[in-house]
Amino acid sequence: MTQAALFVDERRLSERLAALARIGATPTGGVNRPALSAEDAEAQALMASWGRALDLTPSRDDAGNFFLRLNGQDPDAAPVLSGSHLDSQPTGGRYDGVFGVVAALEAAQALREAGITPRRSLDVVAWMNEEGSRFAPGMMGAAVFAGDRTLADIGSVRDADGICVADALQDTAMRLAQLPHRPLAGAVHAYVEAHIEQGPVLDRLGIPVGVVTGIQGKHTFRVVVDGEAAHAGTSSRTERRDALLAALAMVQALTAELHDAEDQVKFTVGRFEVTPNAPSVVPSRVLFSIDLRHPDTDTLRRLSAAVEPLCQAHAGPCKVTVTRLSAADSLVFPDAMRARVKSAADTLGIASMELRSAAGHDARYLHSVTPSAMVFVPSRDGITHNETEFTEPADLADGTRVLTEVLQGLVG
Ligand code: GLV
Ligand code: MN
Ligand code: MN
Repeated sequence: MTQAALFVDERRLSERLAALARIGATPTGGVNRPALSAEDAEAQALMASWGRALDLTPSRDDAGNFFLRLNGQDPDAAPVLSGSHLDSQPTGGRYDGVFGVVAALEAAQALREAGITPRRSLDVVAWMNEEGSRFAPGMMGAAVFAGDRTLADIGSVRDADGICVADALQDTAMRLAQLPHRPLAGAVHAYVEAHIEQGPVLDRLGIPVGVVTGIQGKHTFRVVVDGEAAHAGTSSRTERRDALLAALAMVQALTAELHDAEDQVKFTVGRFEVTPNAPSVVPSRVLFSIDLRHPDTDTLRRLSAAVEPLCQAHAGPCKVTVTRLSAADSLVFPDAMRARVKSAADTLGIASMELRSAAGHDARYLHSVTPSAMVFVPSRDGITHNETEFTEPADLADGTRVLTEVLQGLVG
């Protein structure tokens, strides 16, 4: 049978990535494409136009997930899904997420050009809000698709401007009203996600493809510290209920408690909002985020359980409310799916190695409903969630060839 991977076109792949990078482009070479924004919708519309030109059928579901279907011969056979996300961090790069979506489209096009009509349909997918920077926590579309969260549950989450997911979903649906609606979820035969590594391992070793063994666990929290606004010149130290000082004490205590000599614990306070944020007013409220990761599930759970008591212990005269937003443990992809990726790379003569993903991905949720796998390509110097993120076009093409070979085997 013709090998669809031979039809993967490095230039086309790079051109599509460049076209998507223009949507929400920042002046300094990165991308700002928040979930459910006008730019996010524009990126989906561009994907739809590329898909239509290949006779792929676009559709969207109620969770804002976007699909392009390559119809298989057997309409009753569960489809194979492949993709990632089109939303970005506020100062994101041009590859995180987008590569997986464009690579899946390239695989569908390669199957077409090879003259293959598979038995199963192939759905190229862009999951809604993977990043969680506008609406926290992320991976919302994949979580709803997998039945882990409900539409009602995500609908009430608000962004910094007070806009809720339900309204933003409606807004995006109106922008893309010309795209057919598709029922939420449904049976899936398998899921494969291509992604940049977002770490330095493949780049350092000069290996173009990573066979992802699993994903490290991640727990996230929102911490709100309530104090009281007061005059910076007139209020005495004993009277003050300074929310900023309390929040700083908490962050310092957490940093000390979570420190490990091996540098396995990943602890990040990426958001820190001070209210009213005025030079002459004692801060009345601080909201901060916690992103906590560790590859060992027991350790992660133990550290996670220590977060709230530590915050309470350092609240001083303030009140603190700690909300755990997500608790995802480490996971391991099925051996059989990993073997498919390794064997695809071997068949194509592309060097590969196994590695665990330190970053989170939509595949985490798909893993709970269907056999899943991931294919990594190198990130230059491991730089990511950064506007200078870069992967060599030749590596992107090799990763896409491996993805295509795996998908061809799965769609039958
Ligand atoms: C995904 O972007 C993550 O937070 O790891
Ligand atoms: Mn990503
Ligand atoms: Mn990301």
